[in-house]
Amino acid sequence: MPTKILVTGGAGFIGSHVVDRLVDNEYDVRIFDNLSTGKTENIQKHITKGKAELIKGDIRDTLAVEKSVKDVDVIIHMAALVSVPLSIENPNLTFDINLLGTLNLLRASVKNQIDKFIYISTCAVCGNPEMLPVTEQTPTNPISTYAESKLIGERYCFGFSDRLLLKTIILRFFNVYGLRQTMNDYSGVITRFIERCIQKKPLIIYGDGSQTRDFVNVMDVAEAVLASVRSRAGEGEVFNIASGKPTSINELAKTLLELTGTDLEVIYESPRTGDIKDSYADISKAKKLLGYKPKVSLPDGLRDLLKQRMAST
Ligand SMILES: NC(=O)c1ccc[n+]([C@@H]2O[C@H](COP(=O)([O-])OP(=O)(O)OC[C@H]3O[C@@H](n4cnc5c(N)ncnc54)[C@H](O)[C@@H]3O)[C@@H](O)[C@H]2O)c1
Repeated sequence: MPTKILVTGGAGFIGSHVVDRLVDNEYDVRIFDNLSTGKTENIQKHITKGKAELIKGDIRDTLAVEKSVKDVDVIIHMAALVSVPLSIENPNLTFDINLLGTLNLLRASVKNQIDKFIYISTCAVCGNPEMLPVTEQTPTNPISTYAESKLIGERYCFGFSDRLLLKTIILRFFNVYGLRQTMNDYSGVITRFIERCIQKKPLIIYGDGSQTRDFVNVMDVAEAVLASVRSRAGEGEVFNIASGKPTSINELAKTLLELTGTDLEVIYESPRTGDIKDSYADISKAKKLLGYKPKVSLPDGLRDLLKQRMAST
């Protein structure tokens, strides 16, 4: 019998790429998603071919969660309210989804004797780190409601694993970019810049643009999740999943303007509340214990993304 994997948030941007890799590797995949930001079209091909099953439901709904974990071996928990500005506007909703939802899944996992629970967290739990690169030992200091909720989610996981109720792996993603990333008011900077380049509108940078991020391609991230499904050595551990390289927002804007052959104006506006200043990761632990090795360079990833985005216009 193939390993049955439940992916919460599997219709979302990153989740659907994880589902692609799981299906490629012949896992039996069930997706649990309320389709609030996720889209059926992201996973439709697998559903049509009978390679994945979609359960439309909400992780806040205890009964629906209990039903969805039946006969499952591994859970990859990615469903979340992910927008930093929205989390600050609506902390109750954020905690309901990101905490109550996570707790529902953890409890249902214990009840159903799940083999492994992989929790998707974020580099934002470290806030503005005092030392770079960010390691898994960097003190946590979240500065947004989103980051606080993700950190408490990690602690819940540790609590369950410390009490030997469940084997858990925590993956802290850095700034993930790639195909299927949603374009809205809360989108990541790469999606926003690409849309502005296509529309030939000025690029807007919040702050002076010297702030750095560790941009990691979604294909590399999906590979890391697959590796953690297979890993025994990684159980009970937390891992940074990133490229391991800092890129300033000014550099990103310059690369995109070069790739698109445009000389659009760059406008600087005030920094946004809850945004961190600098971040890039030490990924040696994931390399050593998970065999993780990011393969897609930022210029190559951006070139691919632009090509696909242009083809769809
Ligand atoms: N995008 C990034 O750069 C990034 C960085 C660090 C961590 N993460 C984490 O990765 C995960 C996926 O994020 P994403 O960027 O793909 O965002 P996304 O919004 O595309 O994916 C979230 C998915 O969860 C689903 N969902 C939301 N609330 C739900 C609920 N109450 N019940 C069931 N399903 C629900 C959405 O419909 C969507 O499919 C999240 O846990 C996020 O915290 C993302």
